[in-house]
Amino acid sequence: MVLSKLTKMVTANMDKMESKKKRKIQKLKEEESAKEEDAPEAEQNEAEVKPKKKKKKEHDDTSESSEKETRKDPDENLPFRKSFYTMNETTEALSKSDVKGFREKHSITLYGKGRKQFKPLLSFAELGFPKNIMKICDQFDAPTPIQSECWPILASGKDIIGIAETGSGKTLAFTMPALMHIKDRIKTDAAMGKKRKGPILLIISPTRELAMQSQVVLEEASDAVKIQSVCVYGGVAKGPQIGALRKGAEVVVATPGRLIDLMNDGFCDLSDVSYLVLDEADRMLDQGFERDIRRIISETHPQRQTALFSATWPDSVRELAHEFLNGPIKVTIGSDDLAAGTRITQIVEVIDDQARLPRLNQLLKEYHSSRKNRILIFVLYKKEASRIETSLQNKGWNATSIHGDKTQIARTEALEKFRSSEIPLLVATDVAARGLDIPDVDYVINFSFPLTIEDYVHRIGRTGRAGKSGIAHTFFQTGPADKARAGELVKVLKDANQDVPKEMSSFDLNIKKKEHKLYGAFGPKDYGQPMKKAVKITFDD
Ligand SMILES: Nc1ncnc2c1ncn2[C@@H]1O[C@H](COP(=O)(O)OP(=O)(O)OP(=O)(O)O)[C@@H](O)[C@H]1O
Ligand SMILES: [Mg+2]
Repeated sequence: MVLSKLTKMVTANMDKMESKKKRKIQKLKEEESAKEEDAPEAEQNEAEVKPKKKKKKEHDDTSESSEKETRKDPDENLPFRKSFYTMNETTEALSKSDVKGFREKHSITLYGKGRKQFKPLLSFAELGFPKNIMKICDQFDAPTPIQSECWPILASGKDIIGIAETGSGKTLAFTMPALMHIKDRIKTDAAMGKKRKGPILLIISPTRELAMQSQVVLEEASDAVKIQSVCVYGGVAKGPQIGALRKGAEVVVATPGRLIDLMNDGFCDLSDVSYLVLDEADRMLDQGFERDIRRIISETHPQRQTALFSATWPDSVRELAHEFLNGPIKVTIGSDDLAAGTRITQIVEVIDDQARLPRLNQLLKEYHSSRKNRILIFVLYKKEASRIETSLQNKGWNATSIHGDKTQIARTEALEKFRSSEIPLLVATDVAARGLDIPDVDYVINFSFPLTIEDYVHRIGRTGRAGKSGIAHTFFQTGPADKARAGELVKVLKDANQDVPKEMSSFDLNIKKKEHKLYGAFGPKDYGQPMKKAVKITFDD
């Protein structure tokens, strides 16, 4: 009797909680769609957007962000300059229909307050930066669409979310305005006799190799603009990194773990960071990285400029991202939904687990008959990477591998040998999935399907970069291993007008709403308290 009463009470309570949760999710959904609907340039003008200002503010205020409360309007009483851009005559002369035509041609959408004041730059000269900074672009003909749109916005001091396909030049999209920002700060700090405590520009990357690659871009730039940069990443001695920080490097490119280590040891003070970039931002805000990112960002200057860039922007990170931004403009090139690189031919082969290794061998005979062209072979696990590497070597292929069980020296060496074509086959886990810009990777082979569809898009994006074309050949297992991603894969294929093998129809093609590892599908609520128990996922440090 008592038991059945208790059961009833518990069930009623659970029902109440469930419907409260549902109402909350529904409210968030409405807020999200209102935000997105309110944004597209093509559909609304500024006057129509203004009355919604209050709602947006109310929405922003609900998110936990003590730092946001202290941040002011970017143009008000700034301790450093953030705005370096004036629209030049050529850009000014672009008519409304020219702008519309350009944006339609490249499927560009701008969201956010203030977007109307910007027009895309069709040439490098229109940016109006000094020659020594522009020198970095001498090798290129014109800005890529993400650069055309982001440069004026970033160089005006605004926060940004930049979403554009893999290999479309996002690195320079955030680097060029950063160089101008740093140069100005060096000059004004010196004029005012101000001694900086730490770096001006901080770029955070999810993997050591990507951090190193971005620092190389900065280093090339530093020839022209005389700045010092340091790459802070785990797996190597701290000494040289500490030395470079002590010498006063203006730029730090870092993976989160080592950066926090050096911050804790008192070697890296971020209070002077006035330009912050999260490259591969969706990755940085997911996968158990989020706490580290929160800590790092909380120690940067509260009036900093913040730029988030990626090729993928899942719903699950959108709310969280806004906590770190101040009135951002979002620039999307291509679909706002998940989209694969447009120059990549995607072949999907539904295959039995055991048949994959012989089939890989067969494919290499076909795709790698010259034994010279670069092919990247992705697997899921570290042990799997060494197993496939050994198996390929035993069959006489010239292959190496990169994964987390290798020392950093061995990882760097493998990547360098692949980059220089000394070893043309690289077996890799997802440490190589994002951001790596290796010239002329002809094929990407997914030996094992990745755990998320975003990783699929990034992996295949190692080919078909900077205007070139490429082929991605993916094994999709007949068994249960990959079936949860079937619906998402079919959608990505269809959206990119690629063939969908008929065997895919044997899977359930419904797509489940993706969830943030800590906060579920709709981002942090209840003042940042995780809705789910945190699971620490090991990643690069
Ligand atoms: N304006 C340009 N014209 C032609 N090539 C460019 C231009 N800007 C950059 N590139 C080149 O395009 C390649 C890809 O650039 P980048 O690595 O920045 O791409 P990304 O968009 O960051 O890709 P991912 O999403 O994979 O990180 C690089 O080799 C870069 O030098
Ligand atoms: Mg990149």
